[in-house]
Amino acid sequence: MTKKQTKKSNKSLTLATFLLVISTLVIGTLLLNQKTVEAADVVVYKSPTCGCCSKWVDHMRDNGFSVEVHDRRNMNPIKAEMGIPRHLQSCHTAMVGGYVIEGHVPASEIVRMLRQKPSIKGLAVPGMPMGSPGMEGPRSDPYDVLSIQHDGKTRVFASKNQ
Ligand code: CU
Ligand code: CU
Repeated sequence: MTKKQTKKSNKSLTLATFLLVISTLVIGTLLLNQKTVEAADVVVYKSPTCGCCSKWVDHMRDNGFSVEVHDRRNMNPIKAEMGIPRHLQSCHTAMVGGYVIEGHVPASEIVRMLRQKPSIKGLAVPGMPMGSPGMEGPRSDPYDVLSIQHDGKTRVFASKNQ
């Protein structure tokens, strides 16, 4: 190989490396986007007769989430399996991107959690506060969206209708 040829092959090697880096970046971004879409899928467990649960499902769908609904006559085993303490319990229990969602949690707070990816078990709105998504009515009572820590303790994630 002459000196000139070596230079040329070095140049094409640099080009090949460049293309490899670019394609890795493109594929990586595609995979990452796919992961976000998957994380947006919600699996909901609710009792078959729960009207406000269905309204919350509509609220999630209206906010762009795809929702899979499972009716359960007895919700207690689900709450136990998901580790929802009694004082945090509400009507329905859902799973989103590896997080647990208990009750009428607003979609906007779920989106914020999925963006921030905190190291928590999930979010809960205990009871069924009037004026939370799916519980629309004559009143809009103030309520807190709580984050459930891994040790079962809670922190206020957001305060609504203040
Ligand atoms: Cu409800
Ligand atoms: Cu519900």
